[in-house]
Amino acid sequence: MKLLVLGGTRFLSREVAAQAVARGWEVTCACRGESGSVPEGATHLRWDRGEEAPPELSGGTWDAVVDVARLPSHVRRAVAAVPDAHWVFVSTINVYADNTSPAMEPLVDPIEEDVDPTGSPDAYGGMKVACESLVASGAASSMVVRPGLIVGPGDTTGRFTYWPERLARGGEVLAPGTPDDVVQVIDVRDLAAWILDVCAARTTGVFDGVGRPMALGDLLAEVATGVGSPAPLLTWVESAFLEEQGVQPWAGEGSVPLWLPRPDHDGMMSHDPGPALDAGLRLRPIGDTARDTLGGPVVALTPEREAEVLAAWSFR
Ligand SMILES: NC(=O)c1ccc[n+]([C@@H]2O[C@H](COP(=O)([O-])OP(=O)(O)OC[C@H]3O[C@@H](n4cnc5c(N)ncnc54)[C@H](OP(=O)(O)O)[C@@H]3O)[C@@H](O)[C@H]2O)c1
Repeated sequence: MKLLVLGGTRFLSREVAAQAVARGWEVTCACRGESGSVPEGATHLRWDRGEEAPPELSGGTWDAVVDVARLPSHVRRAVAAVPDAHWVFVSTINVYADNTSPAMEPLVDPIEEDVDPTGSPDAYGGMKVACESLVASGAASSMVVRPGLIVGPGDTTGRFTYWPERLARGGEVLAPGTPDDVVQVIDVRDLAAWILDVCAARTTGVFDGVGRPMALGDLLAEVATGVGSPAPLLTWVESAFLEEQGVQPWAGEGSVPLWLPRPDHDGMMSHDPGPALDAGLRLRPIGDTARDTLGGPVVALTPEREAEVLAAWSFR
């Protein structure tokens, strides 16, 4: 297989390229090289996608293309240069307009022109919708994968990694919301392996690329076992209390990762992995992901802040 990865210097696209090299495929990563290095064994084709495509791109004969772009102009230019390959476009569940439901519709309105994502994070989903259409209409054949939260080795966001690190540390652990709240993550290595399988099979269609929906209580238990702390001391703190305390949901400084306002986000982490599993996706146990994620960066509330919130909860 001759694979063109549009990206290849960080997280998912790098994992796709690395696994393809390990399969013995001929791999070219087209990108600037600003986010990191391409995996050993892959060829780096320097390209800033804000500029015209280099002749090596349109002159090449690629069996498949994997693209992770966020800007419509980047996808438009790349599809025009390489229309004859089988494309796998990595989109996102942020294309869905209704987070209360796991349904695969309705979509947010497409945003056809580039918007600076730093100034307008909400434009991410709309631009991905436009990118999906550009691939579907311009490539010889294509598949769209819409991942939910991607986790595992190489994740620089520090979101999921909070939990393996926190549970490995032990002591009283602040657990957000209720143990029954449903959450969903996918290991970057499983997603990458499946993307390569569907490249080889020339699978077409639109799929959610998600792991199994799990109760948060079960996920934390499996993470704890995976990192060798099988009996965590969890204190479940009601969402309303966390909000009163100014704790941030989901991600970032001061947040409790994976905690989301309910029921507004009930659908966001309960998408159906069934069609992807039928199309060959294989999922490793979450405990394995947790173990392999230990030591990665963490961005979340600090231990001191967690202790403060736990103390306030016990004296409420
Ligand atoms: N992380 C999640 O939880 C999550 C969830 C849902 C969906 N997704 C999607 O999953 C994919 C993740 O991709 P990823 O992990 O590979 O990281 P990424 O940050 O989305 O992609 C970065 C890649 O794009 C390249 N790139 C960026 N700007 C470029 C430019 N102007 N010209 C050429 N190349 C450029 C980068 O290379 P250089 O900077 O080296 O040029 C890098 O290799 C994305 O499609 C994302 O939307 C992620």
